[in-house]
Amino acid sequence: MSGPPACSVLAGLLALLLYQRVAFPFFWEDLTYYLKLRSYGKTLRARMQRGIVTYLDSFLHQAKNNPNKPFIVFENQTLTYRDVDRRSNRFANAFRTEGSLKQGDIVALLMSNEPDFICAWLGLCKLGCEVAFLNVNIKAKSLLHCFHSCGARTLVVGADCVRLVEEVLPDLKKDDMAVWLVDHTSPSEQVSTLLDKVERMSGENLSDLPKVDIMSNFLFIFTSGTTGLSKAARVGHMKAIVSMAFLHLCGATSDDVIYVTLPLYHMAASLLGIGGCIHLGATCVLKKKFSASQFWKDCVKHNVTVVQYIGELCRYLFNHPVVPEEKTHRVRLAAGSGLRPDVWREFVQRFGRIKIREGYGLTEASIGFLNYTDEVGPIGRASYFNKLSMPFELLRYDPQTYEPVRTDSGRCIRACIGEAGVLVAPLTAMNQFLGYAGNQVQSEKKRLRGVFKAGDVYFNTGDLLLHDHRDFLYFRDRIGDTFRWKGENVSTTEVSEVLGLLDFIQETNIYGVTIPGHEGRAGMAAVVLKRDHRLDGTNLYIHLVKSLPAYAWPWFLRVQTSLDVTETFKQQKMKLVQESFNPEVTEDLLYFLDVSQKDYVPLTACLYHDIVSGKIKL
Ligand SMILES: *[C@@H]1O[C@H](CO)[C@@H](O)[C@H](O)[C@H]1NC(C)=O
Ligand SMILES: *[C@@H]1O[C@H](CO)[C@@H](O)[C@H](O)[C@H]1NC(C)=O
Ligand SMILES: *[C@@H]1O[C@H](CO)[C@@H](O)[C@H](O)[C@H]1NC(C)=O
Ligand SMILES: *[C@@H]1O[C@H](CO)[C@@H](O)[C@H](O)[C@H]1NC(C)=O
Ligand SMILES: *[C@@H]1O[C@H](CO)[C@@H](O)[C@H](O)[C@H]1NC(C)=O
Repeated sequence: MSGPPACSVLAGLLALLLYQRVAFPFFWEDLTYYLKLRSYGKTLRARMQRGIVTYLDSFLHQAKNNPNKPFIVFENQTLTYRDVDRRSNRFANAFRTEGSLKQGDIVALLMSNEPDFICAWLGLCKLGCEVAFLNVNIKAKSLLHCFHSCGARTLVVGADCVRLVEEVLPDLKKDDMAVWLVDHTSPSEQVSTLLDKVERMSGENLSDLPKVDIMSNFLFIFTSGTTGLSKAARVGHMKAIVSMAFLHLCGATSDDVIYVTLPLYHMAASLLGIGGCIHLGATCVLKKKFSASQFWKDCVKHNVTVVQYIGELCRYLFNHPVVPEEKTHRVRLAAGSGLRPDVWREFVQRFGRIKIREGYGLTEASIGFLNYTDEVGPIGRASYFNKLSMPFELLRYDPQTYEPVRTDSGRCIRACIGEAGVLVAPLTAMNQFLGYAGNQVQSEKKRLRGVFKAGDVYFNTGDLLLHDHRDFLYFRDRIGDTFRWKGENVSTTEVSEVLGLLDFIQETNIYGVTIPGHEGRAGMAAVVLKRDHRLDGTNLYIHLVKSLPAYAWPWFLRVQTSLDVTETFKQQKMKLVQESFNPEVTEDLLYFLDVSQKDYVPLTACLYHDIVSGKIKL
């Protein structure tokens, strides 16, 4: 009796499968990823019931269960989970007894990649302090701005970063900032040494770990998000925990050895990389600084199986001459963001069968995507399941102002399939946006209200994405007032303000231009000179070196008699961006920053050609 029905059920299933493959070819991948996310959600809830809630809890959980597992491998040191636990206890005790730090205090950390970055950070977490990560490329003047904006009263400086603060020590003292140097000796009596104290302290557990509210703030990470100087984005505990799942969702396991070369002061390395490693209980090989010549050698030496990348890194590796290790390594997975399809294909061809997991994420909010299919190019999927776990919308925008377009009734419009739109995501408990510290105006600018109905609130990412007819999502551009160069955000207003300080410049308009063979956009400035003044390239160069990190320098200048403005008196960037630095399309004088001459030189057709063809590298 059971024969025929079973048969027809089977046939029906087969037909369904066949139909699914034709109509929904990515159904299984979408479903698997969705289930993985759901199962992660379940694991999280189960762990929370056992009291493992925060980033720190997750670390303590590994320290307890895998104490002897190597956690951080750095140069010739290996620290196990227990080693880091005990050393961070020492840091916590030193900060408490010598620095009188307590729960709720805000501490700025200015350190490059080294194990003590993690030990000091975890130590501060154990006291319940909120830590603000500072970019080590920062210039002294911005440093003061950063302290003021996040409200830090204490600064912890790595031994190799001390020169960055020397210039502003008197200002720091005036503000009553405590400055701690992660070293045994100090160049100035205004700076207290920390390591001698740390080494005297007990490594025993702290008896009174703070209780934290999962909806509260965990970290400050500086982004040059949209306008002005960099802003301190609040990163909540929830966001940190969600980030820790990244490597797991990419398919990494506790047996993996994960190579982190990105700077720890960015979220990618500290939350996705180190956090991802902690979540898995895996080993992290930490590098002081990315080096294209050492990359594959390190991978072979340490048996690395997973690497974390940003697009620029892949291109540097690709541009580097062949080393034998690039064929003998055992890297099976690369996880990161910003890899362009052309580099991607060549990368896989040259460096072997490495699975690439391209993701998209932001510091400020939890909205993120992960490419989990074998398609080259997209950053993720916009499937039904995907939207179920992480709702988002792409909105039609005004190409002049980049603002979402509103109908007569004041509502936004969804972008069509195949049309680029601004990515926005509803704010929920899972997609928190805690705002920028001390910057109500900028925080409010990122909140888009009344999008589809009165009272709804969305986070505006300022990124243009495209959703194609197969439900793939592609990254198109970062709009608004920043562009990316060398893996960093450049704030156009900050560069504008710096150029505006020069006495021969009346007005500037900063934007980024694309150059074949380079990720991101190189800085370009359209400038109007003051009457009776001429362009002083040498002085401009000296001024840039003093005031801005190299990635923010304008490499091209375009001298105009007046700046174009839109009807709303916003600076007209679109046309300038399109005309780029091609001397054939404009009558305006163009200049190129020749670092070897420390000056701006006229951009001739020949020079243009050498830059576009890659003969001159930026
Ligand atoms: C200290 O904490 C670690 C990690 O939570 C744990 O494994 C260890 O047993 C604790 N040690 C003592 C003496 O309580
Ligand atoms: C290994 O580390 C020690 C300090 O712990 C240092 O003195 C030594 O130079 C290092 N050796 C190498 C080969 O890096
Ligand atoms: C760049 O800006 C975006 C948007 O503000 C932010 O989410 C991201 O973390 C920033 N990246 C870096 C490297 O600062
Ligand atoms: C790497 O793997 C090889 C072979 O499995 C092993 O002999 C070697 O000790 C490993 N090296 C490290 C640094 O773990
Ligand atoms: C997605 O991942 C696969 C590997 O699993 C890779 O081949 C493909 O190029 C990726 N696409 C993008 C753009 O992430």
